[in-house]
Amino acid sequence: MVSRILFVSMLALVMGACNNEPKVIEEDDELTILIKKHSPTKSADWYIMPESTDFADIPNQDPTNKVTAAKVELGKMLFFETGIAINSLNPDLRETYSCSTCHIPEKSFTPGRFQGIADGGMGFGHLGEGRLKNPSYEGSEVDAQGARPLPTINLAYVRNTLWNGSFGANGMNTSFKDIFGVADPLTDINSKGIEGLEANNHRALIVHRQEIKKGTIGLFRLHSYV
Ligand code: HEC
Repeated sequence: MVSRILFVSMLALVMGACNNEPKVIEEDDELTILIKKHSPTKSADWYIMPESTDFADIPNQDPTNKVTAAKVELGKMLFFETGIAINSLNPDLRETYSCSTCHIPEKSFTPGRFQGIADGGMGFGHLGEGRLKNPSYEGSEVDAQGARPLPTINLAYVRNTLWNGSFGANGMNTSFKDIFGVADPLTDINSKGIEGLEANNHRALIVHRQEIKKGTIGLFRLHSYV
C-alpha cells in the first residue's frame, strides 16, 4: 500500500513536471544583440579568446608598446619580483613583497586571505593565508587597499580596470572626456591615452610602493613611459 501511494505521488510529480516543462531558450537574443553591438567587428566571434601566445590578436593593447614574447617574459618576472619593492614605509620591509603577494596564481590570482597585504605585512603561509599585519605599522600605513583584490588573469578584454573601472583612457572612460573636455584629473594616468591594463599597472607600482628605475632592467622596457 505504502509503495502504491509512493508510486502514485511520484507519477503525479512527474506529470506535474511535464505540464510545467521549462521553456528551452536556444539563444539568449537580448544577450546576443548586446554582444554583437559592443563587438568592434559587430560579430560575436570577436570575443573568442585568442591563444595566449597569439600576441598579435590580443585586444586592447597599448599601440605604442605591443605585447611581445620579451614583454610577457619580463612581466612574468616583475610580477613575482620582490626586488622592486623599494619604497616601503619602513626600510626594514624593503623587498619583502611583490604583485603576487596579493595576486597568488594558485588562488586564481587573488590573495590567500580576504584582503591582501603588501607593504606592512609579514609572513605568508602556504598560499598567503598566513599573511598578517606587521606590528611596526599603524593600520592606516598598511598597503591593503580598500577593496577585495581582483584576479589578474584573463584580462585581455578588460578596457577599464578595477571594480569601478577607473583606469584606462578608453571604453567607458571616454565619456568623462566627452562631457568635460579633459581627462579625469583623479586618474591622471588616463590622460596619457593608454589602455586600462597599462594604466593600471603603472599606477599599481606607485600604490604598492614599488619602483623600476630607469636602466635597471637591461634592454627591456616595461612600459613605453617608464
Ligand atoms: C596590496 C595588495 C595588492 C598588490 C601588492 C597588488 N595588487 Fe593588484 N589589485 C589589488 C586590489 C585590492 C585590486 C582591486 C582594487 C579596486 O578595484 O579598487 C587590484 C586590481 C588589480 C588589477 C585590475 C584587474 C581588473 O579586473 O580590473 C590589475 C591588472 C592588478 N591589480 C595588477 C597588479 C600588478 C601588476 C601589481 C604589481 C605591480 C599588483 N596588482 C599588486 C591588490 C593588490
